[in-house]
Amino acid sequence: MINTKDLEEKLSKVQERYISFMLENLKDWRLWAEASQKMADGKKVNKEEIPDFFHTEYEWAKIVLDMEDQGGFNWQDPRIANLFAAAAQTPFYKLWGDTITEISLLLAEMAGAKTLIEIGAGRGNLTRDMLIKMSSKNISVPLLASDANEAVLNNVVKLRDEFPNQQLQTHLWDVNNVPDDGLKKQIKGPVVLYERASITYATYGCLENIGQVADMIVLGDYFNCTGELFAYDTMFDKIGVKPLFYKDVEPLILKYFPNQYVFDREVHDSTGLPNISLVIAWK
Ligand SMILES: C[S@@+](CC[C@H](N)C(=O)[O-])C[C@H]1O[C@@H](n2cnc3c(N)ncnc32)[C@H](O)[C@@H]1O
Repeated sequence: MINTKDLEEKLSKVQERYISFMLENLKDWRLWAEASQKMADGKKVNKEEIPDFFHTEYEWAKIVLDMEDQGGFNWQDPRIANLFAAAAQTPFYKLWGDTITEISLLLAEMAGAKTLIEIGAGRGNLTRDMLIKMSSKNISVPLLASDANEAVLNNVVKLRDEFPNQQLQTHLWDVNNVPDDGLKKQIKGPVVLYERASITYATYGCLENIGQVADMIVLGDYFNCTGELFAYDTMFDKIGVKPLFYKDVEPLILKYFPNQYVFDREVHDSTGLPNISLVIAWK
């Protein structure tokens, strides 16, 4: 059984690195909040006015607003694919992913997990990272990568060729639906489930579905703790990114996972940033 003190001790280095990066880069987050309002009001904002951390969000906002002027959001616009690719390369996105997989593997080791589940695998950035980490530690916990989109899985499954000593399976799972029997048959407990930037596209109810298969979870998503929304929230809503309010998420997590640890609480407390970005919970 995992206890918080043990976990904190084991995570201390990873946590220190994440929190110091976030404190350094997010302290002026209000500049971006104000700039996004100016953009929404049709005023010009230069990239240099906002902290580097938010430059990708700035580019997103520009495109979303531009498309709105031209009649609505279009996923086929080539600028979108370029932006996703650029976003995945930012120091924050890399650190976020590295931290999520590091924590997940640590939990798996602590609890003797028999399965790892990844949801919303997307381009397989986290999947690859997890496979690299397991290979370098010479361990191989069966990893089930899932997504609601079949094309995503057709791509992720190719990672098997790169990591022949690992046990990678894929499964189509829209987390808004209860996990099907096929998925349940593929897993053995204890199960560590992790994700990044995917439940923000789903509904709160997905936590009920996740609770049916996971014993430990690592959620990397923005959870709004204050209820305060800014222009950037409204803009990103247009591309399907829904603000997740922690007051709604927390009771659902606690229903299935009574032990909860907000990994980056200090960032929220010290900077007043409305959201947290990493939550760990376990049964
Ligand atoms: C922004 S991408 C994140 C990809 C990956 N987790 C990462 O961090 O690089 C979001 C992914 O979530 C998936 N997704 C969206 N809604 C979902 C749902 N209801 N159930 C499962 N996956 C979903 C999308 O298909 C997409 O691959």
